[in-house]
Amino acid sequence: MPKPKISIIGAGNVGATTALWCAAAELGEIVLLDIPETEGMPQGKALDLTQAGPIVGFNACIRGTTDYEQTADSDVVVITAGLSRRPGMSREDLLAANARIVASAAERIRVTSPQAVVIVVTNPLDAMVHCAWQVTGFPARRVVGQAGVLDAARFRAFIAMELGVHPADVSAMLLGGHGDTMVPLISCTSVSGIPIRQLLPADRLQQLVQRTRDGGAEIVRLLKTGSAYYAPAAAAAQMVEAVVRDSRRLLACAAYCDREYGVGGFYVGVPVILGAGGVQQIVELQLEEEERAAFQRSVAAVKALIAEMQQLLGN
Ligand code: NAI
Ligand code: 2OP
Repeated sequence: MPKPKISIIGAGNVGATTALWCAAAELGEIVLLDIPETEGMPQGKALDLTQAGPIVGFNACIRGTTDYEQTADSDVVVITAGLSRRPGMSREDLLAANARIVASAAERIRVTSPQAVVIVVTNPLDAMVHCAWQVTGFPARRVVGQAGVLDAARFRAFIAMELGVHPADVSAMLLGGHGDTMVPLISCTSVSGIPIRQLLPADRLQQLVQRTRDGGAEIVRLLKTGSAYYAPAAAAAQMVEAVVRDSRRLLACAAYCDREYGVGGFYVGVPVILGAGGVQQIVELQLEEEERAAFQRSVAAVKALIAEMQQLLGN
């Protein structure tokens, strides 16, 4: 049987590290693509990654390219192409610049990989996944955004650090946009089945929720010249794995919600079952009153972001 073909658009920090995690897990044949101005860079990274195989013990075919033809007929395409915010650049500048980059990638994917599942990582995530869906014209279940896996992992890591337990024993779910309004769900957080409220006091939990909301900014402050990429890439690779292995993982992803949660036709972070073909099901939860209100605030923020993007792009 042919190996699944996984293309990663953008061979920067998140893209190359996603390639590494996918290669290490032998998820398929990997193509790492960047813009023509970077000719040599994606090829060099692909070769470097290939040479890690004998040491780590994986056998992966990784190619670097600047030519979309090399990505043709991919089963999964991960979009990490885009700018991070630079000094002097406004939020609007970033929104407009990345929307143009994601739209151009989506246009190419629409033609070269018409059956692919597209996983969007570029920020601002909730707007970029909406843009990729609109431009590809793919069914919504085949376009999905990565944010919730990362944000939930941050929350899980903070809880594990606090309790001194193995992070794999901490389970968490999260709703909403990838930003200040995200909603880590205390009611859905547990450690080996024990509700978190039995293990940590409410005020400490709130501090960990806030640290999760600020998780990306905390790393930007420390790195000074870029944003997080190890955990974001691990999150993207986990989503790739769910799709290519049809493992039906129940994960927080940015998925297109219409009647679901009463969202009305926008991408927002919700629990989904992810497997072959993309989003197989959106899972609707019974929310506590406070969680419901916070989710509605987050959905409103996502809608405002998308309206701003459409205005900047003149749509
Ligand atoms: P980076 O600057 O290291 O890499 C971005 C790459 O995209 C560069 O190599 C650049 O040449 C390439 N690129 C630009 N335009 C392109 C195009 N039209 N086609 C193909 N490639 C193109 O940035 P990094 O750290 O890899 O981050 C990438 C994006 O992911 C950013 O927007 C960042 O904010 C976002 N991000 C999202 C996360 C999430 O949870 N959703 C987490 C971490 C990062
Ligand atoms: C993060 O949360 C920058 O979205 C990125 O780290």
